[in-house]
Amino acid sequence: MPEIARNLEAEPHRLRVELGARAYDIVIGAGILARAGAEIKALANGRVYIVTDANVADQHLRALRHALEAAGLETGWTIAVPPGEHTKCVAELDWLILALLEHGLERSDLIIAFGGGVVGDLAGLAAAIALRGVDFVQIPTTLLAQVDSSVGGKTAIDTVFGKNTIGAFHQPRLVVIDTDLLATLPERERRAGYAELMKHGLIADEAFFSWLETHGAAVLAGDPDFAPEAVYRSCAIKAKIVAADEREAGERALLNLGHTFAHAFEAELGYSSRLLHGEAVSFGCRMAAAMSARLGFCPPSDVLRLERHLDGLGLARRPRDLDLPPLRPSDILRQIRRDKKTKAGRTTFVLLKGIGRAFLTRGVDDEALAAFLQDELT
Ligand SMILES: NC(=O)c1ccc[n+]([C@@H]2O[C@H](COP(=O)([O-])OP(=O)(O)OC[C@H]3O[C@@H](n4cnc5c(N)ncnc54)[C@H](O)[C@@H]3O)[C@@H](O)[C@H]2O)c1
Ligand SMILES: [Zn+2]
Repeated sequence: MPEIARNLEAEPHRLRVELGARAYDIVIGAGILARAGAEIKALANGRVYIVTDANVADQHLRALRHALEAAGLETGWTIAVPPGEHTKCVAELDWLILALLEHGLERSDLIIAFGGGVVGDLAGLAAAIALRGVDFVQIPTTLLAQVDSSVGGKTAIDTVFGKNTIGAFHQPRLVVIDTDLLATLPERERRAGYAELMKHGLIADEAFFSWLETHGAAVLAGDPDFAPEAVYRSCAIKAKIVAADEREAGERALLNLGHTFAHAFEAELGYSSRLLHGEAVSFGCRMAAAMSARLGFCPPSDVLRLERHLDGLGLARRPRDLDLPPLRPSDILRQIRRDKKTKAGRTTFVLLKGIGRAFLTRGVDDEALAAFLQDELT
């Protein structure tokens, strides 16, 4: 047991998201759920409500409750919503807010979002608008939520008009990330989250990308000697970008690397669970890199490096590798044109000058894009 003892003693990583009056800490470590009570106690003025989903509740709710009780926190109510993207809907939001009010939610209480991105987005939006806003804390339990959705304050639900079409910016008061919670996460979900983690290195930190080339497999396996550091370095990149541009007026759009393609794939497949968001992002990052090289911005050797890294960790190359129906270049092009990042017929793309050097451009013409999709997807 010396391994475990060493990690429990290790001080967690601590990051500050510098947003003035809305600044908050992200605390990251292996096995730190036990500390969550003490961390939350320092900022709670009232009762604590837990929103989670049924899968996370089965695996980890007891441990969270224990941590809160040990710190002497008064828990108001716990609700486990059904797992899955369809839970991010108006009906579920309506029900959740009314149920919180019914159970006595007051302005001084605090909501804990304990789950993946679905729970974080839904509970975060409920916290943003119930009683004109109550505090909330994110305790993300998927790798995607740990490196991406729990940080940055975007909350949302989906409607028939598309994903995340109703939402708000509402920053959490604290994010507590225990990488040991990933032990129960299915392998496929872990790989999907890894794509977003790696994406941050690809955008802005070549040294981190290179570290992942050595330690990526250990990170994916949830090794306590590597997973917390990877999540920390990835969150640090996102936190810095969010602090510079909270509402996505400019630089924050860099975080969308790979997402123009990813959203087009997801939309074309009707947001089916056959393609996870992180899997789409993995394809999207490969395509953004390939397009950057084709347009002469990025050395082909960097594209190869990215391909080698993702291949080595078993991240699928193209949609067809996941037994998805063929995606026609013309359909993907149509989806890209419908994307909210397309204005006046021009799409803002995030491209690469190399690994760790992403930039924004509206200078990709339609013909070049169509030809690229034709070559990539057929
Ligand atoms: N707000 C943002 O900035 C932002 C950023 C990226 C993604 N998102 C949103 O996040 C959502 C996707 O999040 P996700 O990938 O975390 O999916 P998810 O929340 O649906 O979780 C995936 C699955 O894993 C299960 N699960 C969660 N934690 C587990 C654990 N520790 N052990 C076992 N099972 C566990 C869940 O019950 C679910 O079945 C999408 O709706 C997306 O729009 C939001
Ligand atoms: Zn994403």
